[in-house]
Order: sequence, then structure tokens, then C-alpha cells
Amino acid sequence: MKRRLPTIAIVGATGAVGVEFLSLFEQRQFPVGELRLFASARSAGKSLRFSGRDVPIRELRDDSFKGVDLALFSAGSGISRDHAPLAVREGGLVIDNSSAFRMDEAVPLIVPEINSDELDPYVGLARPGIIANPNCSTIILLVPLNPLRLSFGVSRVVVSTYQAVSGAGANAMRELEDQSRAVLAGQPPCTRVFSEPCAFNLFSHNTAIDPRTGRNVEEQKMIDEARKIWRDPGVQVAPTCIRVPVMRAHAESINVTLKRPAREHEVREAIAAAPGIRLVDDRVANRFPTPLSAAGQDDVLVGRIRPDDTQPHDGSRYLGWSLFVCGDQLRKGAALNAVQIAERCLA
Ligand SMILES: NC(=O)c1ccc[n+]([C@@H]2O[C@H](COP(=O)([O-])OP(=O)(O)OC[C@H]3O[C@@H](n4cnc5c(N)ncnc54)[C@H](OP(=O)(O)O)[C@@H]3O)[C@@H](O)[C@H]2O)c1
Repeated sequence: MKRRLPTIAIVGATGAVGVEFLSLFEQRQFPVGELRLFASARSAGKSLRFSGRDVPIRELRDDSFKGVDLALFSAGSGISRDHAPLAVREGGLVIDNSSAFRMDEAVPLIVPEINSDELDPYVGLARPGIIANPNCSTIILLVPLNPLRLSFGVSRVVVSTYQAVSGAGANAMRELEDQSRAVLAGQPPCTRVFSEPCAFNLFSHNTAIDPRTGRNVEEQKMIDEARKIWRDPGVQVAPTCIRVPVMRAHAESINVTLKRPAREHEVREAIAAAPGIRLVDDRVANRFPTPLSAAGQDDVLVGRIRPDDTQPHDGSRYLGWSLFVCGDQLRKGAALNAVQIAERCLA
């Protein structure tokens, strides 16, 4: 007997993340039955191309989820908070890209390369529920560090991010383009999405700062989510999150302290063998990961792997390691990670 293909809803289909779902579905031959695309009233009546046909975009409503098996949400936390429970009530499985449910104890927070075992209760769409996709910077940090954690343990991470403007959505991408044109034409840059000019500039991440801790929301997410995904409340994470004038793909400079010392070849072998990673580490040619080479790619690119001799070592085995990574935050940091979760749940 032929199995029915799942009815799939994409909420936020016109957004920077939303459009990636469609291209990933095509590339990965994802099983799509009925496809329902939702966005705001602004987009209702337009359409998006999928599999050689135009699929209409509808305004999201409370009754949008009747008969939906799988709903991929990427329209912001407020929409997820209001509408994801409605999709679950209709018997659907929600994979949510927003931060609305990430720290909810009952909601799995999943990077498939790390903790896909937590998806077991949902395999075969066995039950409705919400699964959260982590923050993009967290995913791009944890994918390359996970093999080191598995082989040597990780006690502390210091990370500085260089985050692309597309992390703030499609309007932010237009803002970088518009500002770049304006500045090159000798005009002042007009700010709409960010409070600082993004063209020819960089600035501390645009999320709010907690006056008590001095951390912005993005930095706090990286700390809290790393602990939840690694099921390690004791791991120390010290992030500094910065927005840079890059269109797409986040970069991160990482310094990690292992629990057990490692030799360089052991660190390289562990990273090279791990899923979702490509080594780009050519010291002779001075070629390392860049956002441009990571853009549109599924893998997180990893390079500049080197021992940190300011931390305890015996000359061959080191506790401290530095690396530089780049990952496409619209793909592995968002849509791809969600599609990988969906593929596992549909298995
Ligand atoms: N961008 C990233 O790199 C990234 C990474 C990880 C997670 N996320 C998360 O993913 C979500 C979407 O981000 P994005 O970057 O794709 O944002 P975006 O480009 O601004 O897109 C937002 C989407 O939400 C839709 N939307 C807005 N208001 C709506 C409403 N009232 N009802 C229904 N749909 C509505 C928009 O539709 P219209 O086009 O009609 O306005 C658009 O499709 C956010 O929660 C974000 O935190 C983003």
C-alpha cells in the first residue's frame, strides 16, 4: 500500500529562513504532500515557486492547521507562541525556529548531529508536539565542538561571533544593500532594522542587554542552549556577539578548554570525522573558512585549528584549543537543521 505523503505547513514562508525550506525540500527530495504556505496579510495573494508550480501564500489564521501533519514555524516568537499550540491541537508536529519554546523543559532542543536520540518519541510522527530548533549561533558553535566534547570533554568555551545581517531577516538584508549603495554614492546610510549603520561598520549584537549581567539576549541564548543541548549544566560559555556587514553565514572565533588534554592530530581527526563539518585549514596557502565560502553550504567550515599554549600543556598534549568556523545560519543555523529534524521524525 502506498503511504500518504504528509501535509506540510510553512509559517513565515516569505522570510529569509522560510524560502530556504522550499529550496531544501527540492534539493533533498523531501516527501511533500499538500503544501500550505503562510505569511502575514501583506503577502496573501502572492505565490512562491515550488517543484515547478506556483504555490499561493495565505494569511496565517487560527484555523490554518486542520489536517496538517508537520508545521515548520519561522515567523518570530510571538507567532509561534500563539499558533504552534493550535497546530499541535490539530494533531500536528511543530518544528519551531523561534526562541519561544527553546528553554521549555518539555520541549526537545535539537541539533541532529548531537542529540537526535531525544526525537525518538516523535519518529513516524508518532505523536503531536513541539520541537525547538536552537539559535543559529549556538548550532554553528556546537556542531564543530561536539566531536571534541565526545572525545576529550569540554569544560569552557570563549567565543566571539561575526554575525551576518540576514540573521535579522529579509529586511536586514535589504538594509545592508541599500546602505552600501547609499554610502558609495556619498549619501548617509538610512537605518530601519538596526540602530547602527551596518554597511562599512560592525556593532554589538542588536538584541537587548541585561543591565545586571551585561550580556545581550543572543549571548545568553548561546549559554543556556549549549547547556541544554549538551545536557551539561556545568559547561562554561563566555560569548561576545557582534553583527558584521556580511550578507549571509556567521563566523565564530572559538577558544575551548578540554577536560582531558589532546594532541593536535587527535583534535584534527576527531573534527574531520564528525558529521556536518568540512575542514578548510590550509596553513601554507593561508586559506581558511569565510562566510562567502560557507554561504549556501550544508556543512560548518572549520579551520585555524591550533593549540592554545596559554593553557596547561606538556608540549604535545594541550587542554586549550583555538579554531575559526563559518556556517550558513539560514541553512544549518535554521532551515536545514529543522529539515533534518523533520526527516528523522518522518522516518
Ligand atoms: N534569519 C536567521 O538567520 C534565523 C536563524 C535562526 C532562527 N531564526 C528565527 O526564524 C524566524 C524568522 O526569521 P527570518 O530571519 O526568516 O525573518 P524574516 O525574514 O523577517 O521573515 C519573517 C516571516 O514571518 C512572516 N510574518 C511576519 N508577521 C507575520 C504574521 N503576523 N503572521 C504570519 N506571518 C508573519 C513574514 O511574512 P511577510 O513576508 O508577509 O511579512 C515572513 O514570512 C524568527 O523567529 C527568527 O528568530 C532566524
